[in-house]
Amino acid sequence: MRLPGRSGIVADLEDALQDYFGVRHAVTFSSGTAALHATYDAARIKAGDEVIVPAWTFHATASPLFHLRAVPVLVETGADGNIDPTTIEDAITPRTRAIMVTHLWGRPAAMLAIQAIAKTHNLLLLEDGSHSHGASHGGKKVGTFGLAGVSAGRAVHPRGHQGERPPQGAAMNSPFADPTFEDTIRAAAETDGVERFVVAAVITDGDRMLFLRRPAGEFMAGLWELPSGKVEKDEGIEQALLREVAEETGLRIDAVEKYLGHFDYTSGSGALTRQLTFEVTVTRTGPVTLTEHDAHEWAGPDEIPAVSDAVRELVTR
Ligand SMILES: Cc1ncc(COP(=O)(O)O)c(C=O)c1O
Repeated sequence: MRLPGRSGIVADLEDALQDYFGVRHAVTFSSGTAALHATYDAARIKAGDEVIVPAWTFHATASPLFHLRAVPVLVETGADGNIDPTTIEDAITPRTRAIMVTHLWGRPAAMLAIQAIAKTHNLLLLEDGSHSHGASHGGKKVGTFGLAGVSAGRAVHPRGHQGERPPQGAAMNSPFADPTFEDTIRAAAETDGVERFVVAAVITDGDRMLFLRRPAGEFMAGLWELPSGKVEKDEGIEQALLREVAEETGLRIDAVEKYLGHFDYTSGSGALTRQLTFEVTVTRTGPVTLTEHDAHEWAGPDEIPAVSDAVRELVTR
């Protein structure tokens, strides 16, 4: 149950939650159980659909599924109390529609592994964050990894207001919330003969963006660039983005807001490289700690330093 309409302190609270979680919509409910019920309904879980849930959790993680005549499929939890990612794939059948993760006792579940499984099998990822308001994993708040996240008493819905039933493929807060996003990028790259990926982040502080300078003695020394780096073999694109930003700047990504596009170039070692650039927000904009560059600069749109033409074109669009 939720109060109809948005006004007064309910609207204030929902706005504040939206800002705090960095999501498109926060919708308050009378209880966590009601929010979970609404989440399953908004995810269009229907009679006969199967949803993978942790075997060890409060019953409300799974029980709303019975109202929708859907089937909870229990999988084992690990020593931390959370769903064990290695048990998920055995439980997937052609009727599986979603994975519901609980972040038990304030400890985030293994979201990168679980996200990868959801992507591979084209399943919706849902989160019961009733125990973990404010916890984050890899710099990202729990409740914002999948299509929707719930805390006791409220649901945070990155994709849209549950009452509006956004169409499949509608714009989401994070491009990675779309389970087909990475596959599409990788398939296009394969067709184009791309040999490696570089991920880059546009990190903003107000209307200024963060640029780093390549040090003397390196390939393209003196050139300014966005925080960026190579996607390693067997590494997800989002995982690489979180890692590279943390390694090169000491900043932690809070949310990936938008995919800004790509350009291709030939690397120092001659490999056709595709740079994928994302707009991100960080938990704090300082201090910036450099490890592979000799200077950093926060620059407004009119004061962008000497970057490559491709980067300039991308950030001034
Ligand atoms: C993991 C978990 N999910 C959901 C709920 C349901 O929340 P509520 O009691 O507000 O309905 C709880 C409540 O204890 C819980 O522990």
